[in-house]
Amino acid sequence: MVEAFDAVDLIRVKRDGGELSTAQIDWLVDAYTRGYVIGEQMAAMAMAILLRGMGRREIHDLTLAMIASGERMDFSQLGKPTADKHSTGGVGDKITLPLMPLVASFGVAVPQLSGRGLGHTGGTLDKLESIPGWRASLTNDEIMAQLAGPVGGVICAAGAGLAPADRKLYALRDVTGTVEAIPLIASSIMSKKIAEGTGALVLDVKFGSGAFMVEPAKAHELAEVMVRLGEDAGVRTTAFLTDMDVPLGLAIGNANEVRESLDVLAGGGPADVVELTVTFAREMLALAGHPDEDVEAALRDGRAMDRWRAFIAAQGGDPDAALPVPRETHTVAAPVSGVLERQDALAFGVSAWRLGAGRARPSDPVLHAAGIDLHAKPGDVVVAGQPLFTLATDEAERFERALEALEGAWSIAPVGSPVESRPLVVDRITAVP
Ligand code: URA
Repeated sequence: MVEAFDAVDLIRVKRDGGELSTAQIDWLVDAYTRGYVIGEQMAAMAMAILLRGMGRREIHDLTLAMIASGERMDFSQLGKPTADKHSTGGVGDKITLPLMPLVASFGVAVPQLSGRGLGHTGGTLDKLESIPGWRASLTNDEIMAQLAGPVGGVICAAGAGLAPADRKLYALRDVTGTVEAIPLIASSIMSKKIAEGTGALVLDVKFGSGAFMVEPAKAHELAEVMVRLGEDAGVRTTAFLTDMDVPLGLAIGNANEVRESLDVLAGGGPADVVELTVTFAREMLALAGHPDEDVEAALRDGRAMDRWRAFIAAQGGDPDAALPVPRETHTVAAPVSGVLERQDALAFGVSAWRLGAGRARPSDPVLHAAGIDLHAKPGDVVVAGQPLFTLATDEAERFERALEALEGAWSIAPVGSPVESRPLVVDRITAVP
């Protein structure tokens, strides 16, 4: 086979700030997926993209080329609309768990193909695997049957056939310091979501210490690029910019995040988790042609919980089984009375990860009972001696490094001090011209 281009020529074009043509991008992604372009060359290209950026047309072409590297799912035969949500990742982010059954309970199918946690951010599949028997791997036929049937929604692992170029490139970026490039993040996320075949998509683009993008302005730029990619591909897309400076909810981990999700499905749960669940459910339903649904009612009256139970059972799990409990716990109490003023999301995410809730390498197992339960949130008044948070793990030797991660990560101000109250949802970005 005669190759159309030379990888080194293309790297030089991008290195020197030039634009890659559609044919060059198509070839690059295809040749990299085939193994003709080697990892070292693609790493150099990823770094050139990170440093030089890409224009709108190039990002569009890159996304299409990654979609074309694998299969595309098609839900047009389902006879009902589809809607999905994607989060750029955060600490304590369990929103997908209550959201999927909630939206499905209104007759909109939710094909939620998810990933596992890597680094300090948790993974939806890891959380769900704390439920005895629950199975993350489904065939395409099983996904279709579950979406068409009474569950009407699925949360499962994205198959290897979906955007394989992204799978390979993401792993390379992870070890070459090239994750944080907007063209690469946007094309990575959107190639998978477009290939997955959803008709509508809500993006939760997080900013703050626990997010990929710390700066709101960068997160806004990423959101705009992704909304444009979605709309160009015929997927109705809305992005929300949300604060990830403090952990979401009171649970960070796996089994404890499932417990908190069950609280939300039972009509309770922490206000911030409920706010995001309800906001995203309304948007997904509206994009799928169901505006003005009373989503809170479905949380109050058990409809969403019934869907959850059906979903867990359909994927082999026992919705009534006891969730794993940790062998060891360590509670940190307030040293003084005052107002909790800070709780840094990144530090708490790293600490939970060190307790065993997350993994350092994709092949590592996670400890399902490991994590952190918060007993107070910023703005709460605390008295000396009151528990602030509890670390949990099965291996006591993990506490030392987990506690180290939390040094300087929280603080208590004197009673009466003003504590900045920040909105959770700061922007909503729709069809960008
Ligand atoms: N999530 C993805 O799927 N890809 C990225 O590049 C970043 C977050």
